[in-house]
Amino acid sequence: MTPEPTPDGPLTFSFLTLFPELLAPFASEAILGKARERGLVDVNLVNMRDYSQNKHLKVDDTPYGGGAGMVIRVDVAERALASLPPADEVILFSPAGQPFTQAVAEELAGKAHLVFLCGRYEGFDARVEGLVTRELSIGDFVMMGGEAAAACVLEAVARLRPGVLGDADSHRADSFSSGLLDYPEYTRPLEWQAQEVPEVLRGGNHAAIAEWRREQALKRTLSRRPDLLTSAPLTPQDSATLLTLGATPDDLKGWGAPPPPPPKKPKRKKKPDATPSGT
Ligand SMILES: C[S@@+](CC[C@H](N)C(=O)[O-])C[C@H]1O[C@@H](n2cnc3c(N)ncnc32)[C@H](O)[C@@H]1O
Repeated sequence: MTPEPTPDGPLTFSFLTLFPELLAPFASEAILGKARERGLVDVNLVNMRDYSQNKHLKVDDTPYGGGAGMVIRVDVAERALASLPPADEVILFSPAGQPFTQAVAEELAGKAHLVFLCGRYEGFDARVEGLVTRELSIGDFVMMGGEAAAACVLEAVARLRPGVLGDADSHRADSFSSGLLDYPEYTRPLEWQAQEVPEVLRGGNHAAIAEWRREQALKRTLSRRPDLLTSAPLTPQDSATLLTLGATPDDLKGWGAPPPPPPKKPKRKKKPDATPSGT
């Protein structure tokens, strides 16, 4: 999927959270810290407690209808949101949200301002749904808060912004970006615990390396995540490779893969000239 055109200026991530200190290191360390220094991304941590109108700074209350746990008040979330400049998206983190995928990351990377609402306790009062543009889940499990989910999305989205990664191409072959899982990578030492780096990677034949990597990506995807093959852009040569890797013609049909190229005809040997020479 091609990312949407990137607007000029940084992509600003605003986090509405009760624990800004959990997110601060993500915003200041490593590649993201450098991207911030270079003005490519901006991070804004908003403590929702600052928008409590309660003298004890309470932001939550007991659920109507009874039951365990506390619920974050919608009016607190609304006031915290109103303190921010307009956003392209206001995203609520929730196990009940749309699954977060690389395609969603690519879509978000084209925006200018994203607001992330991080829940705690039993989550937000359900009326918060009227304030958000979408809900995202990072998987079928329940965490204690939305900060870790928001950090995942920050990491996945920011690295897609032009200039954030040193090598502009380095995310193109990543798992999911190409529609397949990534091929295996190796570095020194050449031999480790009797395991050698594959011969093809040492030869400097770039066409052979590219072919090997594509085959490995197909092999990994076929064995670990065959579900991805239905939406991966596959070539006739990929179909031929998948057949050699154990896929069946019916599998190819199911994935909507193109037919493999016809087998090459063996070259016919030229018959020796039957006419005797000198006659
Ligand atoms: C303990 S959870 C609330 C779970 C909620 N009662 C439910 O079962 O859907 C507290 C907060 O953690 C965040 N959270 C937990 N698991 C998540 C997930 N898989 N994806 C995104 N956010 C999650 C959400 O912001 C949520 O409001």
